[in-house]
Amino acid sequence: MTNLIQKYNIPGPRYTSYPTVPFWDKEGIAQQDWERTVKKSFDESNDVEGISLYIHLPFCESLCTFCACHKKITKRHEVEQPYIETVLKEWDLYCDLLVERPKIREIHLGGGTPTFFSSENLRKLINGIFKRADKFETFDFSYEGHPNHTSEDQLQTLYDLGSRRNSFGIQDYDPIVQKAIHRVQSFEQVKRVNDLSRKIGYESISHDLIFGLPFQTEESIRNTIKNTIELKPDRIAYYSYAHVPWIKGVGQRGFDDNDLPKDSEKRHLYELGKQLFFDNGYVEIGMDHFALPSDSLHKAMESKKLHRNFMGYTAGKTELMIGLGMSSISDSWYAFAQNEKTIEDYTEKVNKGIIPIFRGHLLTEQDLIIRKHILNLMCNLETEWKIGLDNKIKNEIVERLSEIIDDGLIEVSDTKITVKDEGRMFVRNICMAFDLRLLENKPETRVFSMTI
Ligand SMILES: C[S@@+](CC[C@H](N)C(=O)[O-])C[C@H]1O[C@@H](n2cnc3c(N)ncnc32)[C@H](O)[C@@H]1O
Ligand code: SF4
Repeated sequence: MTNLIQKYNIPGPRYTSYPTVPFWDKEGIAQQDWERTVKKSFDESNDVEGISLYIHLPFCESLCTFCACHKKITKRHEVEQPYIETVLKEWDLYCDLLVERPKIREIHLGGGTPTFFSSENLRKLINGIFKRADKFETFDFSYEGHPNHTSEDQLQTLYDLGSRRNSFGIQDYDPIVQKAIHRVQSFEQVKRVNDLSRKIGYESISHDLIFGLPFQTEESIRNTIKNTIELKPDRIAYYSYAHVPWIKGVGQRGFDDNDLPKDSEKRHLYELGKQLFFDNGYVEIGMDHFALPSDSLHKAMESKKLHRNFMGYTAGKTELMIGLGMSSISDSWYAFAQNEKTIEDYTEKVNKGIIPIFRGHLLTEQDLIIRKHILNLMCNLETEWKIGLDNKIKNEIVERLSEIIDDGLIEVSDTKITVKDEGRMFVRNICMAFDLRLLENKPETRVFSMTI
């Protein structure tokens, strides 16, 4: 296994979209094309399955030095209100475009730290959204919280607004690791928000852990997982640390490359975690998630309804996902678009009455086909050839997969390709054989984190 890890541990995308962001059309997407595909997608799907909203709430009080998210560090809570007002103005721009009232099936508040915002401002935000929309028959509202900055009042307010699912960033419990990543957070602080969530009635609680952080050892990971299991979250995200200092140069500091576990050590930490989760009744979902069999994510996997988007794995899929807030990415299935990345540029466009995108990609027929294959592989670990590829392209993909086939990681038949259990950890490498955009434009500089 160690040899295979060495062989396949190369820079590669995490496939939260296809094409992946660095391969979006350099020309971007015309504003009218974006608006046209949003309308098309809305008309096709609003009555049938509803739409999803992702709302990016970027503020954090303190910088964690491993963090690759789009965030803004501040302790000035005066920023909350104007930001919420801008997000609601942006929502108005979409509602004016869509004419009919949207039916919302999913809302996710991501960050940054959504629980940076006061209960009152969170209430203003969600009530503001529903001034112009209704809930779909099934409604799933989730958010990310920082254990050090989440009060009982916030948990109760979000529950009263309809949320039944939350997730907390944990990362690691070891004091040495916590110091290096500038994120000191005790077990008691996590237990407090976990117990309060249970008491209030949340149905699904998720904990984010990361392996591959500086100074992690087998022992420290065992202890982190022991603490995690004690609180029995319904889901666990066990992320591979994405070391991307060339993108997040200013943020990823406080440790250097020598402090990070080496490739095989890092993979060992993953294997160890996985085994401990299995021993405690968790099931592996797709690439880096685990869930109790009672959780909706596991049920979605069983019924092949698992979906993957910019937030990672989700239990539901809608054709249209509108991303509100600075840096948010939206998906109309036929196109992607990303909002302006700074609050200033984002606010300026919204105030001018413009949907504040700054780049995007209109998918070609071929992109749409490859997108389906990659989603199938990432979510169901198999894909069927009957999804529209011509024979030449299919044969080239099989050719590119030949080493992976020889290494016994996948099975290829006339009808489909199936990832074997041994191949699960290499699923990003398997998807890369389908990624025509990557193959056509091999990046000259480093763009992606390592696949393993
Ligand atoms: C927006 S944060 C979660 C909410 C809150 N800000 C917090 O930290 O508790 C999203 C999650 O992304 C993950 N993450 C951030 N940077 C990462 C990186 N470089 N590699 C892997 N995972 C990362 C962390 O697990 C983090 O909990
Ligand atoms: S990990 Fe969470 S709290 Fe820390 S900087 Fe990133 S978004 Fe903010």
